[in-house]
Amino acid sequence: MKVAKRIEEVREFILEKRNQGQRIGFVPTMGYLHQGHLSLLEEGIEDNDILVLSIFVNPTQFGEGEDYEDYPRDLDRDLELAKKVGVDLVFIPEVDQIYSKQSATTVRVEGLVDGLCGASRPGHFDGVCTIVTKLFNIVNPHRAYFGQKDAQQLAVIKRMVEDLNFDIQIVGMPIVREEDGLALSSRNKYLSKEERKAALVLSRSLELAQDLIGDGQRRANIIKEEMRNMIEKEDLAEIDYIDIVNQLNLKKVSNLEGPTLIALAVYIGETRLIDNLILEV
Ligand code: PAJ
Repeated sequence: MKVAKRIEEVREFILEKRNQGQRIGFVPTMGYLHQGHLSLLEEGIEDNDILVLSIFVNPTQFGEGEDYEDYPRDLDRDLELAKKVGVDLVFIPEVDQIYSKQSATTVRVEGLVDGLCGASRPGHFDGVCTIVTKLFNIVNPHRAYFGQKDAQQLAVIKRMVEDLNFDIQIVGMPIVREEDGLALSSRNKYLSKEERKAALVLSRSLELAQDLIGDGQRRANIIKEEMRNMIEKEDLAEIDYIDIVNQLNLKKVSNLEGPTLIALAVYIGETRLIDNLILEV
């Protein structure tokens, strides 16, 4: 497994592989790898000749007062895991490799970023789109893998790739969960034992929504209200948002029909967790 810190090293490696006719898969991450990331890597290794992983905690997608400084990092462990699953190249740039002082360009997807996490984290998706564009231009992959865990991110990236004519296939992968239902996240590390228990309220509320829909409920307000009631019973939980939107355009729906995304963000203590459920109604 090759580890590259510089952009030129990545370009050189990829050019050689592309000249040999090899197919390049790419998984961008912020590191502190868990089974969710590994599921993307495994799929990417299976689908392609070469798999590139990037680990970069991207400062421009963190808002003021967010956890950029504290974001969990463990490069040695990440490299070990990457090697074990069979990654070919890991790209670990420093911030000043990626953003120069003169840097003046931001990639922004309109509309899709207004609601859900975009509403509570203004500028977040501009940071995500800009870094993903830069990484796509550096790695030049045939395919790139993103988790459904960040459903809005996946929708925004798909839109961006189509709008900017990137010749890259975007592959969405299902949410990987702990046995008790908690969606895996690097931020779960912040949770105390008590908070870890309380955090189950996110996936439980989605299960409740699924049950209600199974029983024939189609009104978004009623489903959201039931979810809200359940979450508010949990002392350590503070709701950021609960929304039910069309999975494709992320517009709010009042009656569930077609591809539907139920998404929520909840503070458990100081930690903001997200989870979602996608279903065809
Ligand atoms: P990060 O949070 O490290 O996630 C990297 C990828 O792993 C994302 O596509 C995310 O959706 C996926 N992922 C995280 N938890 C998952 C889970 N439980 N199941 C399945 N997939 C999961 O998302 C980012 O980094 C950044 O915004 C990035 C795209 C790298 C740009 O900086």
